[in-house]
Amino acid sequence: MPRSFTRLFLTGTAVVWAFGTAQGATPEKVGASTCMSCHAEAAEQFKQNVHAKTFSALKNIPFEESCETCHGPGSLHAGAAGDKSNPDFATIKNPAKAGAKESSETCLQCHAGGQQMFWKGSKHDVQNVSCAECHSVHSGSGKKLMAKATESETCFQCHSAIKGQINRSAHMPVAEGKLQCSSCHNPHGSPGTKNLKADSANSLCYQCHEDKRGPFLWEHMPVRESCLTCHQPHGSHNDKMLSAKRNLLCQRCHNSTRHPGTLYQGGDAGNQHNRIFNQSCTNCHSNIHGSNHPSGKFFLR
Ligand code: HEC
Ligand code: HEC
Ligand code: HEC
Ligand code: HEC
Ligand code: HEC
Ligand code: HEC
Ligand code: HEC
Ligand code: HEC
Ligand code: HEC
Ligand code: HEC
Repeated sequence: MPRSFTRLFLTGTAVVWAFGTAQGATPEKVGASTCMSCHAEAAEQFKQNVHAKTFSALKNIPFEESCETCHGPGSLHAGAAGDKSNPDFATIKNPAKAGAKESSETCLQCHAGGQQMFWKGSKHDVQNVSCAECHSVHSGSGKKLMAKATESETCFQCHSAIKGQINRSAHMPVAEGKLQCSSCHNPHGSPGTKNLKADSANSLCYQCHEDKRGPFLWEHMPVRESCLTCHQPHGSHNDKMLSAKRNLLCQRCHNSTRHPGTLYQGGDAGNQHNRIFNQSCTNCHSNIHGSNHPSGKFFLR
């Protein structure tokens, strides 16, 4: 039940309001033509977008009723005629200013299924990010009504650290437009972690890097465990998005092999020390993701 207000009196410059439930103070629908008499621009923008084009066909909502489907009945707001000091002005709902949950409810009236199925309780929902932060119903760019010119710019409003990673020397081709954030994430939530569009990082990576799926005759254990052990998903200063420099990466786990990897262990290397210097482990162990060669136990072939 919206609160209604009755103007009492003016004293000097101060306006004094009394609260009450005066009759007829419940806002009612007035229709798009009334809104348009003052909001021609908002209406023109709206007419360009998918909602204006599909409401009547898919939702049986004629254009005349469209504005108030999202903004709520507007008679009191219209009556206040743009006077912001009149409390009736605020009886219109502006999803960009409403609290995140209330704002999103506007949209969830129609979008609770599909990609938005996992919205409730998702990280963005819980952290009070609303639909309107990423989508703009009036001025959104053509594709999916994105609030910014591109999808990644929309995300970078809040994820500046990821922006930095994407721009590192080795990176996913997101900046080049071959991939989008939403190739890997469902920004509306997912049953798995980190809004991933798969139940684990590995099953996500296999969707595009099928050749790494195996099974191989000779498996390299960390590869099956998680691609993220060795790769940073958004980008890295090391080539191939590796999480550490080549040899250090391997030496995190292999520090006492028959041909020790560091100079410091060189003394213990016995006859194998020719393999230490100036060589990348992957020069020889080239099938690092797994091998199907009968003698591929050491991923050499
Ligand atoms: C008599 C003129 C008039 C009518 C009719 C009118 N509005 Fe407004 N409305 C305004 C003015 C003026 C503003 C303030 C605009 C600004 O700040 O730039 C406003 C602001 C708004 C806002 C933003 C509110 C806020 O708090 O930021 C929304 C949303 C809105 N109107 C929707 C509607 C809808 C929907 C209708 C039809 C049901 C409607 N208006 C009818 C004059 C009108
Ligand atoms: C599908 C829901 C939806 C419909 C339908 C809709 N709006 Fe909006 N409107 C929004 C949202 C969300 C915002 C917040 C800004 C944004 O996302 O673009 C908004 C913002 C506004 C604003 C404030 C603009 C500002 O700069 O803050 C006005 C005015 C407005 N709408 C008028 C209208 C009018 C007039 C119509 C009908 C022709 C209409 N809206 C139809 C959702 C809707
Ligand atoms: C009255 C129902 C209704 C409401 C409320 C509504 N939508 Fe929609 N929306 C639709 C329909 C219908 C479509 C057309 C696409 C389809 O579902 O086939 C659509 C499409 C979209 C699309 C896809 C655009 C594209 O280019 O493919 C986005 C994004 C979207 N809506 C966002 C929102 C947001 C954000 C809100 C809340 C501010 C909202 N919608 C409120 C019914 C609604
Ligand atoms: C964190 C940013 C973000 C938020 C928050 C967000 N979206 Fe989206 N939305 C996107 C992106 C990115 C796409 C495009 C995804 C794609 O192309 O697969 C999209 C696509 C859509 C689509 C069109 C695809 C489809 O599912 O049919 C609709 C509708 C939609 N969003 C509605 C919503 C609604 C409703 C909310 C709030 C409950 C919301 N979005 C919140 C980023 C967001
Ligand atoms: C308005 C700010 C905002 C925007 C815009 C935004 N995010 Fe977020 N996002 C957040 C916040 C806040 C968190 C929670 C951060 C945390 O807990 O550390 C988050 C978390 C995430 C997470 C981690 C989820 C988890 O379960 O840990 C992913 C993935 C993500 N966002 C992707 C996206 C993508 C993709 C886009 C663009 C389509 C986007 N975000 C746009 C604010 C935003
Ligand atoms: C190739 C797939 C892929 C693409 C493309 C991608 N991400 Fe991710 N993202 C991941 C994976 C995998 C994780 C999980 C990392 C982990 O669990 O350590 C992740 C995690 C995140 C997180 C959570 C970070 C944290 O430390 O918890 C955010 C935020 C995020 N991504 C945002 C984005 C944004 C924004 C974009 C687009 C610019 C994007 N991602 C593009 C795969 C991807
Ligand atoms: C939606 C498809 C897609 C998904 C999912 C995906 N990738 Fe990629 N990946 C690509 C594309 C496209 C390239 C660029 C290939 C090219 O340019 O030849 C690439 C390149 C790479 C590269 C080489 C980068 C370089 O600097 O040369 C690595 C490493 C990589 N991906 C690892 C991963 C990992 C790990 C995952 C899972 C977290 C993953 N990818 C998920 C599409 C994907
Ligand atoms: C033990 C560390 C390690 C793990 C775990 C790992 N990788 Fe790699 N990956 C590498 C190394 C090292 C390279 C560089 C190989 C080279 O240049 O010879 C590489 C290169 C790549 C490349 C680019 C070159 C190519 O071979 O296509 C892709 C794509 C890739 N990895 C995907 C994956 C995927 C997907 C997973 C998870 C299934 C994964 N990696 C797990 C170490 C690893
Ligand atoms: C996260 C830890 C980890 C990382 C990083 C890692 N490995 Fe492994 N690697 C293992 C494990 C565990 C095995 C299985 C050991 C076993 O079977 O005794 C293995 C097995 C191997 C084998 C076969 C050894 C054997 O006795 O069968 C080779 C060769 C190898 N790794 C090379 C490398 C190279 C080269 C790199 C760097 C590109 C690397 N590994 C990075 C954990 C790792
Ligand atoms: C010049 C080629 C070459 C280079 C460079 C090389 N390896 Fe090897 N590695 C081999 C060969 C050949 C074997 C097979 C077993 C043997 O003959 O010692 C092997 C065996 C292994 C094994 C399994 C046997 C053991 O010693 O435990 C591991 C683990 C291994 N290498 C890790 C590494 C790491 C880590 C690096 C980089 C620091 C590296 N290798 C660099 C050729 C090489």
